Amino acid sequence: MNSLRTTYTRSARKAAGFILKDEVVAFPTETVYGLGANVFSEAALRKIFAAKGRPSDNPLIVHVSTIAQISLLTGRITPDAQTIIDNFFPGPVTVILPKRKSISPLVSAGLQTIGIRMPKHEAAQDFLKACGVPIAAPSANISGRPSPTSWQSVRDDLDGRISCVLQGSKTHVGVESTVVDCTGRHPVVLRSGAVTLEHLQAVLPSTTVYAKQTAAAAKSPGMKYRHYSPHARVVVTSALTMPVLMPGEDSAYIGLHTPMHVRTFSSVLLCDDLDDYARKVFSFFRDCDKKHIAAIYCEEVSEEGIGRAVMDRILRAAHH
Ligand code: TXA
Ligand code: MG
Repeated sequence: MNSLRTTYTRSARKAAGFILKDEVVAFPTETVYGLGANVFSEAALRKIFAAKGRPSDNPLIVHVSTIAQISLLTGRITPDAQTIIDNFFPGPVTVILPKRKSISPLVSAGLQTIGIRMPKHEAAQDFLKACGVPIAAPSANISGRPSPTSWQSVRDDLDGRISCVLQGSKTHVGVESTVVDCTGRHPVVLRSGAVTLEHLQAVLPSTTVYAKQTAAAAKSPGMKYRHYSPHARVVVTSALTMPVLMPGEDSAYIGLHTPMHVRTFSSVLLCDDLDDYARKVFSFFRDCDKKHIAAIYCEEVSEEGIGRAVMDRILRAAHH
């Protein structure tokens, strides 16, 4: 279905015009680029799933521009959600709340809950305000591919499949929002992100991370799918115990420390710190694919702060 002529624009108003015509629009946020549709338009919602090749049992996060819009989506803001909203909205975090019955089951993939987030990013806020309605948006990649952190990555995946791309800068965070289930007795992190477990526990001490799950029992449906996958094989490694590389294979490395045998890699990206690692890991995966790299070695980091999100993404990319 690569038959559309995709419009590229820097105008939030022009991009919002497509939303009001039930089209889908890719737009920047602080985490990754999203692929947005009017949450109240089933026709537009269907276009998200078609453009991405996304399974219909994977629910969408809905983006709001004002606190008032939250009540269009849920009839019950639980006390835990209120605390997260007070402390971290706008920001790279999504709260899961009971869904209003009027919201299409396409958004929630049949669940009774809904994910809600308010991005902290000027271009995203301008766009959402210009739309005037909450915007359902998954990451703007072909399903299974690394999330896009630049509009060029969106173009690589979705040119000709969507009506419009709102062009902005590279995303600052680089990994998707933290998803927190706020419908139970205690808040549970379903997906790690830049609002870290430590940040959440500082305001909600009983917050836990959803236990490593079997595919069938996944609470957050999206977590059971193959994710973030470059074409290359992804190998999680320590900088010090670097395995011997396959002869004749072009290999790449990303991490914080210079690896052993550094000169045997055809591409090496040393990150300044964990934030920088998170910011660059998906674009590195995509760059490696363009260079036909066969194997990407990713340095293992400790699961603290945003390191938890980095490890989550690279382990999933390595198909663990
Ligand atoms: O940073 C982000 O969250 C980006 C930007 C565009 O906002 N969006 C994003 O969306 O990463 P997506 O669709 O790629 O990932 C959404 C994740 C999936 O794992 C999905 O299963 C989960 O959130 N999710 C959404 N609604 C849910 C719900 N009601 N209950 C449990 N998990 C939910
Ligand atoms: Mg995604």
